[in-house]
Amino acid sequence: MAEPRTRIDPTDPDIYLHGIPHAEFAELRRTDPVCWIPQPRGSAGFDDEGYWAVTRHTDVMTVSRDSDTYSSRENTAIVRFQPDMTRDRIEMQQAVLLNMDPPQHTKQRAIVSRGFTPRAVNSLRAALQTRAERIVHTALATGDLGDFVTEIACELPLQAIAELLGVPQEDRRNVFEWSNSMIGYDDPEFSGADPMESAMGLLGYAMQMADERQSCPRDDIVTTLVKAEIDGSHLSVDEFGFFVLMLAVAGNETTRNAISHGMLALLSNPAQWDLYKETRPRTAVDEFVRWGSPINAFQRTALHDTVLADVPIRTGQRVAMFYGSANYDDDVFAAPHTFDITRSPNPHLGFGGSGAHFCLGANLARLEIDLIFNALADHMPGITLAGPAQRLRSGWINGIKHLPVRYR
Ligand code: HEM
Repeated sequence: MAEPRTRIDPTDPDIYLHGIPHAEFAELRRTDPVCWIPQPRGSAGFDDEGYWAVTRHTDVMTVSRDSDTYSSRENTAIVRFQPDMTRDRIEMQQAVLLNMDPPQHTKQRAIVSRGFTPRAVNSLRAALQTRAERIVHTALATGDLGDFVTEIACELPLQAIAELLGVPQEDRRNVFEWSNSMIGYDDPEFSGADPMESAMGLLGYAMQMADERQSCPRDDIVTTLVKAEIDGSHLSVDEFGFFVLMLAVAGNETTRNAISHGMLALLSNPAQWDLYKETRPRTAVDEFVRWGSPINAFQRTALHDTVLADVPIRTGQRVAMFYGSANYDDDVFAAPHTFDITRSPNPHLGFGGSGAHFCLGANLARLEIDLIFNALADHMPGITLAGPAQRLRSGWINGIKHLPVRYR
């Protein structure tokens, strides 16, 4: 196999400042699809000397599906932590579903899945549709120019989680602020907020909510989750708290970025925006997720020696799956760099591979994205770009922080 021309570290936040580094990923897929990326010990918050970067669609699928070989236990978030928050953060992350292996994962997932059945998600439709319309009208009322991210894309995902959990209106601002400051710690704009303090605030709030429902059950999802019993186990107050903490990250930053990337792509390809307004194809949402790949990567740790695409991987080594690369793999997608809202089939891995950890909120995310774009097409058809997108400095979340637009 030829030596790669460029050996980037695909977790380096600086290489995402202009979007997914497509040329470098294409080179890795072609020359070194399971590529060892050295990192000085401790530099990325992990006690090892690097990790395997997996960039092809087929190999990302293999890793996602095989949780007997590739464990989620050792922290799936491949973020370059700031040194002073490394250990605390890792410990906290180990208490969430994302970072569990079977049988613990299987049990907890069976319980929390009850909050995400098609029926549960659909029961939020009417409320979220009203919210989506209100968000668009509020933005229109602020004037001609605005920031699509802060005024539109951020709002619905936060409201959806609040709606799902039945967070009362008066508490939503706090929940929103905690959620927001837990993200973006790689970015100087966020350095004022203390992510650990916010996490503790949200955790405390969620645990209090669970506690209340255990003593005074209601007809809501929190009660369902803290009362549900599967194989003799149920979610403890702590487990519920960590679950909410995870939702705040997993459901917010991701969906807001799928919406922002979708809008940026539509407005950069006006014929696609016109097509969307005329035909509202059901395929559009998944193309927004493929195109934006809001989560750039998750990682696993090898539980035993194995071989992936002819590359030997040793027990304990980290293996990172780059969805932002797999979703543009031309072995799978015809013309991957063409944004096509009618693309079908679209086997993107934006919600993860099809393994045990496949995104629990995928249907909720799809509903939110569908509702907001329908509201935009109905009430803001003349929206145009008014400046360049400002990206989040992160190697984990493929984020847009600001997107200047003209609303009419
Ligand atoms: C898992 C992406 C929206 C909740 C995942 C995973 C990905 C992902 C890639 C796989 C993690 C892994 O394999 O280790 C996305 C994207 C979204 C989105 C791109 C929006 C476009 C949501 C929403 C929620 C949610 C709205 C809930 C409100 C979760 C949870 C998991 C997860 C709970 C963990 C599942 C498990 O470990 O069993 N998501 N997600 N996600 N997502 Fe999402």
